[in-house]
Amino acid sequence: MNTIQPRVFSGVQPTGNLHLGNYLGAIKRFVALQDDHDCIYCVVDMHSITVQMVHEDLADQTREVTAAFLAAGIDPEKHIVFNQSRVPQHAELAWIFNCVARMGWLNRMTQFKEKAGKDRENASVGLFAYPTLMAADILAYRATHVPVGDDQKQHLELTRDIAQKFNNDFSDRIAELGVGVEMMVGEEKVNGFFPLTEPLIEGPAPRVMSLRDGTKKMSKSDPSDLSRINLTDDADTIAKKIRKAKTDPAPLPSEVEGLKERPEAENLVTIFAALAETSRSAVISDFGGRQFSDFKPALAELAVEKLAPIAAEMRRISGDRAYVDGILKRGGERAEAEAEQVMKVARKIIGLLRD
Ligand code: AMP
Ligand code: TRP
Repeated sequence: MNTIQPRVFSGVQPTGNLHLGNYLGAIKRFVALQDDHDCIYCVVDMHSITVQMVHEDLADQTREVTAAFLAAGIDPEKHIVFNQSRVPQHAELAWIFNCVARMGWLNRMTQFKEKAGKDRENASVGLFAYPTLMAADILAYRATHVPVGDDQKQHLELTRDIAQKFNNDFSDRIAELGVGVEMMVGEEKVNGFFPLTEPLIEGPAPRVMSLRDGTKKMSKSDPSDLSRINLTDDADTIAKKIRKAKTDPAPLPSEVEGLKERPEAENLVTIFAALAETSRSAVISDFGGRQFSDFKPALAELAVEKLAPIAAEMRRISGDRAYVDGILKRGGERAEAEAEQVMKVARKIIGLLRD
């Protein structure tokens, strides 16, 4: 326990359609990180009941996100893929973190404000405590790096605050038990048990915007299906959505700076660059000065080329339910073994009486 190995953890909720934002902001990066990191990827089913408790198809949606992970290229043998509710240590550590985090910290969370809307009194306690469960997901494995889209930045800052307060409140116990690891907090060297996790947010498309409104993020909760490209959309649907994507009347600018104040143009260029694994300036040097009527078909073709094989593979994998369930079960067993090692020490640090 006296070292912290670099480790990647991330989670995706099993709620409805996965879309291009989830793919470019998260899943594509999960795949890339596998080559040189030890990774744990989790379908966070307990998070998805914070807004809506009754789901007719929670199990199927859990399988669908798992199929998307596998279809995108995540290797469940080398790395761990599982669903959160199989590993009770997440909920146990979340409870401890509920007692570490302060009301004031959670009151500042913008995702809660957005999701609770006007009727905050009627939001579930789980929705309010959502970020402490997320911190527990990550820290149950003492994960050091978390790839996520830009919308999760605030939750990761809270995760660091929780780790730091825990390390600080229990510094004597951590030293006494000899379970600490040296880490830097600003300029200061401290001995802590939980790492101060780094977000991995930079990347080609940390925030993919709606195709109908370039100032809103692409989201599964947008009532308009035309606002997003779903990972399961077929080629015709993808082409139609891109054709109908909102743009302004001007041609594409000849410099990247010309995308400022043009959110829809900027979004489409960013999507192109992320899918083609190139830079926005490379896209502009090819398409600068040209009309959207030229650019959109090229973008549609690229999107179909990159996404159609994933959709086909998702369908193939989803057809084999026993295979998907087997991956989650085995992943859950491996994850639980890891999380229990961390929990054993955490319980000792706190002084909970266990054998
Ligand atoms: P969720 O579906 O909310 O569990 O999100 C899963 C992952 O996708 C998280 O890492 C999010 O930050 C990321 N994500 C969701 N929407 C977008 C978006 N529009 N652009 C970029 N990343 C996104
Ligand atoms: N809150 C994340 C989202 O909505 C999902 C999530 C839950 C997560 N636990 C996590 C992401 C742990 C990264 C690490 O997208």
